Amino acid sequence: MAVQDQITSVGAGAYQGYFKRDVPREDPELTHVGSGTAMGEYLRRFWQPVCMSEDLADLPKAIRIMGEDLVAFRDKSDQIGVLHRHCSHRGTSLEYGIVSERGLRCCYHGWLFDADGTILDTPGEPPNSKLKDSFRHGAYPAREEGGLIFAYMGPTELQPDFPVFDGYDLWDTRMKSFEVTFPCNWLQVTDNYVDPIHSMFLHSSYASTQLTESFLLRPYCHFFETPGGSGITHSTTRRTTGELVWNRMNHAVTPNIGELGSPWEEGLEPALFRRVYATRWSVPIDDMNTVMFGWRHLNDFVDPWSKADEGGIGKNMVDFDAQVARPTYEAGQRDPGDWEALTAQRPIAVHAAENLGSTDVGVQARRRMLRQVLNGERGDLLPPPADGESRPIRTFSQDTTLRIPRRPDRNEDWALLGEVGRRINDAIAAADHLRGEDRQIFVERRLAEVEAELGSGP
Ligand code: FES
Ligand SMILES: [Fe+2]
Repeated sequence: MAVQDQITSVGAGAYQGYFKRDVPREDPELTHVGSGTAMGEYLRRFWQPVCMSEDLADLPKAIRIMGEDLVAFRDKSDQIGVLHRHCSHRGTSLEYGIVSERGLRCCYHGWLFDADGTILDTPGEPPNSKLKDSFRHGAYPAREEGGLIFAYMGPTELQPDFPVFDGYDLWDTRMKSFEVTFPCNWLQVTDNYVDPIHSMFLHSSYASTQLTESFLLRPYCHFFETPGGSGITHSTTRRTTGELVWNRMNHAVTPNIGELGSPWEEGLEPALFRRVYATRWSVPIDDMNTVMFGWRHLNDFVDPWSKADEGGIGKNMVDFDAQVARPTYEAGQRDPGDWEALTAQRPIAVHAAENLGSTDVGVQARRRMLRQVLNGERGDLLPPPADGESRPIRTFSQDTTLRIPRRPDRNEDWALLGEVGRRINDAIAAADHLRGEDRQIFVERRLAEVEAELGSGP
């Protein structure tokens, strides 16, 4: 009998290693992003950050986004261009190109490409040559916002308006751009946005407390789909003192954006609807690498005592350092953060090998939602083509701490936390027709009502 044929049944007891050696394949539908893949085409329907403004000085910048090799540049008349990296003539890389008064000139034979892909000059051709007018070089619409360069890499006729989030201009907010790379698939980086329990363990590990002590408390978790198809929130409600209940909502905005609260929040003082601390895009470089671009929102309202060091926010630097790699492998082993945990889920996390529990409901819901979009069942999660109208996207990311005394019965108090989380979500959802300060005032009033009602006891 051949050696392989001697194994007749899968063991059911301990020591299952032998039977579980083979790792199932990743889910290509949700994780693969190359040209022509379902998810790649979906992500290309949105404006995506592709590099930082500081990358574009007097030299072009080679970038790779969703498996496409590109080059970004700022010409001397301040036009931003994002072009296919390989020259249309004989294919050398435009990263060696010469930034010109208008456009980018290839180093090899001098062809000159405008930001929209128009070929402006082919100096080696005779003066009457029509070659340069007979085709265009590959180019994507690009723009600069707040220290980041964005590109739209989808079909031209479906280009949406540039997304504006409602937290950008509240309370004298300054936004500082940053970039962090993760050598792993984009989906596992964004799954982390809807994973509330890891904060309690990973960031408050035995090695150190990376967040405040309040994150150690076990939260009551909810997951809510936000109105208008903007995504899904995870809401965590914790009792921080006998008097106070703290609710945090983070918003995973479709398809790859996270609007997140401050890691320095303690929930130890009354607060109503404190808004976003960071906006983050997790952009696939390719199937096995991701670059996170984002803005840290700096204002006295969200984290009045953090004294954020703006010098510590930028390229491979954020002031919540669990998001960047530890300086050495050993340091990562001793005190891992998000970067270590996410990149170690394999280059592409294998969903078929997971065993999801009750706190993974958000991860499941978000994956289901993405699959529905790809199957054509959620047209509301596709951005509408541009019509020039400014429609700020209402985001739900917030912290609220209400004065709601502890109920004597433990189970009753736990149920109360659930009720507080639900009521806070309802209060914010009810303000969906409002903008800016009007929305803030409306939500604050509703939250005060929730506190008055639930804080006065059963
Ligand atoms: S390869 Fe670029 S101009 Fe010839
Ligand atoms: Fe985290």
